[in-house]
Amino acid sequence: MLSLSLQQMIKSNFRKRITMTPFLVLLLLASSLNHGYAQFHPKNEAFISLSITQNGLDFMKELLVNKAISSLIPLQLPNIEKTSKIPVVGNVYMVLSNITIYHIYVPSSSVKPGETGISITASGVTCDLSMNWYYSYSTWLVPVEISDRGRAEVQVKSMEVGLTLGLENQEGSLKLKLKDCGSNVKDISIKLDGGASWLYQGVVDAFEEKIGSAVENAITKKLTKGISRLDSYLESLPKEVPVDDHTSLNVTFVNDVLLSDSSVGFETNGLFIERNPSVPILDLYHNNLKLPILCTNSSKMVGITLDEAVFNSASALYYDAKFMHWIVDQIPDQSLLNTAGWRFIIPQLYKKYPNHDMNFNISLSSPPVVEISNQKAGAITIVDMTIDVLEEDKVIPVACISLVIQATGALKISGNNLVGDIRLNDFQMSLKWSKIGNLRMYLIQPVVWTLIETVFLPHANTRLNKGLPLPIIHGFILQNAEIILSTSRLAVCSDVAFTESNKRFSYFIQ
Ligand SMILES: *[C@@H]1O[C@H](CO)[C@@H](O)[C@H](O)[C@H]1NC(C)=O
Ligand SMILES: *[C@@H]1O[C@H](CO)[C@@H](O)[C@H](O)[C@H]1NC(C)=O
Ligand SMILES: *[C@@H]1O[C@H](CO)[C@@H](O)[C@H](O)[C@H]1NC(C)=O
Ligand SMILES: *[C@@H]1O[C@H](CO)[C@@H](O)[C@H](O)[C@H]1NC(C)=O
Repeated sequence: MLSLSLQQMIKSNFRKRITMTPFLVLLLLASSLNHGYAQFHPKNEAFISLSITQNGLDFMKELLVNKAISSLIPLQLPNIEKTSKIPVVGNVYMVLSNITIYHIYVPSSSVKPGETGISITASGVTCDLSMNWYYSYSTWLVPVEISDRGRAEVQVKSMEVGLTLGLENQEGSLKLKLKDCGSNVKDISIKLDGGASWLYQGVVDAFEEKIGSAVENAITKKLTKGISRLDSYLESLPKEVPVDDHTSLNVTFVNDVLLSDSSVGFETNGLFIERNPSVPILDLYHNNLKLPILCTNSSKMVGITLDEAVFNSASALYYDAKFMHWIVDQIPDQSLLNTAGWRFIIPQLYKKYPNHDMNFNISLSSPPVVEISNQKAGAITIVDMTIDVLEEDKVIPVACISLVIQATGALKISGNNLVGDIRLNDFQMSLKWSKIGNLRMYLIQPVVWTLIETVFLPHANTRLNKGLPLPIIHGFILQNAEIILSTSRLAVCSDVAFTESNKRFSYFIQ
């Protein structure tokens, strides 16, 4: 009852004086989690979104095109053989073998999202090939077969390669499909080492087209394989990002992938859940989440939007964990843990229990409420602080003070984590009950303020400084991130860099 009315009080307070702090102050003090009752069940399922802007797509494209190319070569093509009628010489059997593409150069490429998918085009592509040539023929003039062999260098020029990728949410995972893939060779130049004078034109006439289509086929086939590996990689991304020993973020994809002509957006559930112990904590700081909304004005590569529900789900989860009861028996000013230290503040306490040790029993009556506005991120926490006197092996609760703590948080990005540092914005206190008569709250207030500043906040900040891992694929790191606050959500707009340290990702995109 009391906590309800306090909460209402806080709510109306919030409207007037909005304070904010990202994460859940105290919740994060939790040291053990149990199954609990305070499940947080919001209606809309998407609370973290990621959008990749055109700049981000360009970055990914560079990475993928470069990787794809280096993994493409050397590319072996099947032998080509043909019997041609050569003027004067007659019917000649010719074979090109050991055909190898050993160099590919892509001068320009582009990526464009659209309603049907993401189109990637590479143009002006040049491929260098080496091969062996062989021919044989016989004529009535000479009864033996005539043959010769040598090497040839072929350059395939101004080739176009285009592909369209479809992206779908399939049961919570991303599905990448190759919708369309084609290439087109415009020009070929052939250089032969040795051979008879008629051979050059013979090879050009007989093989120009075949070499072109062999190159097209080989590249298309290889790209198709690459895309299906990338798809397996996406499919293998975990649906949970571990946050600590006990909790994870649910990064199950929800809703359709949002394809516009300037960005690709993903939405994930994004709420805290109890951690599945089979998800290794090592992957913690690098994983994959998504969703779009803010950052529209930004030239950054990606935008990650988090609804305040994400933080409140953490709050509810940690609340369940019964972090709620915390006995404070170590504080910087130890004199406050003896009634002597309170002699002038609560004289009757000292009189009744002279020189007794004390502790404080902190308990939260509801999960901290996190609110984000376009100015601030903050949390409100309602705490019951019971003053206990210790007598031999007895704990005697003597009074209980209700606190409404409003904290404001400074947010920043550290690595791929969103970290917070909270400051006390304001607090109200009232006497809930007392066995030692009335207390002079104005005298107690500075002491409580000190306790909050020196005990609560440092403890909360230790946890908050570890932060919330943002859903970024391992191997990519955020750079030049900025945080934008808005009503009930915040966005991290950022560039990304690839560290090459993700062997799995590198493997899959080859
Ligand atoms: C086949 O081509 C590769 C590279 O172009 C070359 O190293 C190798 O010697 C060739 N093999 C034969 C049998 O010609
Ligand atoms: C994770 O989110 C998905 C999609 O919203 C939901 O179906 C699933 O139950 C959630 N998982 C847990 C463990 O809550
Ligand atoms: C958004 O973009 C417009 C025009 O490009 C600019 O005038 C405005 O200041 C930008 N707003 C922010 C918050 O950057
Ligand atoms: C702390 O206080 C709560 C109620 O505020 C009570 O339920 C709990 O038993 C107390 N814990 C200890 C160890 O005294």
